[in-house]
Amino acid sequence: MDELQLLIDLHKSAHRQGPGGDAETEKALDLAGIERSAPLEIADIGCGTGASTLLLARLLQARITAVDFLPDFLDVLDRQAEALGVADRVSTLACSMDELPFADEALDVIWSEGAIYNIGFARGVAEWKRFLKPGGLLVASEITWLTDMRPAELQQHWDSEYPEIDVASAKIRVLEKHGYSPLGYFVLPERCWLEGYYRPMQARFDDFLERHGHSAEARAIVMAEQREISLYEAHKAHVSYGMYVARKPARSRHSAEGAMDAAGFGRTYYDNFE
Ligand SMILES: C[S@@+](CC[C@H](N)C(=O)[O-])C[C@H]1O[C@@H](n2cnc3c(N)ncnc32)[C@H](O)[C@@H]1O
Repeated sequence: MDELQLLIDLHKSAHRQGPGGDAETEKALDLAGIERSAPLEIADIGCGTGASTLLLARLLQARITAVDFLPDFLDVLDRQAEALGVADRVSTLACSMDELPFADEALDVIWSEGAIYNIGFARGVAEWKRFLKPGGLLVASEITWLTDMRPAELQQHWDSEYPEIDVASAKIRVLEKHGYSPLGYFVLPERCWLEGYYRPMQARFDDFLERHGHSAEARAIVMAEQREISLYEAHKAHVSYGMYVARKPARSRHSAEGAMDAAGFGRTYYDNFE
């Protein structure tokens, strides 16, 4: 079994495939000011097995397209959507996030938890913007430095894993440079890493190694994950995920009314933020 298949096997039974939490998904929803009864079109990009997709489907009246390039994860999501009774509003799309098939201005909200790094934050926010309606929202979590100075071993690890890692002010600047209006940012708490992601993963290690006969490839994956966990535990004051909420500006006032209504957001929302 190749490395990707092993990673799928390790992660597909997890609730989340990256740091996050249901309370933080809901907090981002509130920070974005999304009206829960509006008939929104949402894409959840890099959805994994759908922790955020399925929560959004339960909290909103929206139609959600859950996108991931791994059909194994989407199969799990489809089964869970059926079991939760939201399958009529959730559809899955096996596709890469750099080849999304959405029409221009088709989406009210782009959601992406712990996934935009796969094409890079700057590229993702730039390329996905055209899919948003004027006034539409981007909600994305991204690994972020919490401090301006970091211990060398942490810096070296993340510089080699993801050179685009940066402080929140730099991420917000990227959003601004690409024409978004940042609405807010918050840091995912430690619980999202440990209880939401690392501890459940560690609990799966023994069975995973057993299933794969303790092969060198399986052991290498466990060792790499363990190293990342140890680094996080040692240096969690310096790194986390940030949740970023930003809006694609609405068209100027004389043509804005229709676009705002089409986006499904109430006047109150715009009055608060304009
Ligand atoms: C860290 S996981 C996060 C999953 C989920 N959003 C969550 O928070 O549990 C990243 C996800 O991005 C997906 N992914 C990686 N590269 C991708 C690509 N090029 N296009 C689409 N999805 C991709 C992976 O399959 C994985 O499900």
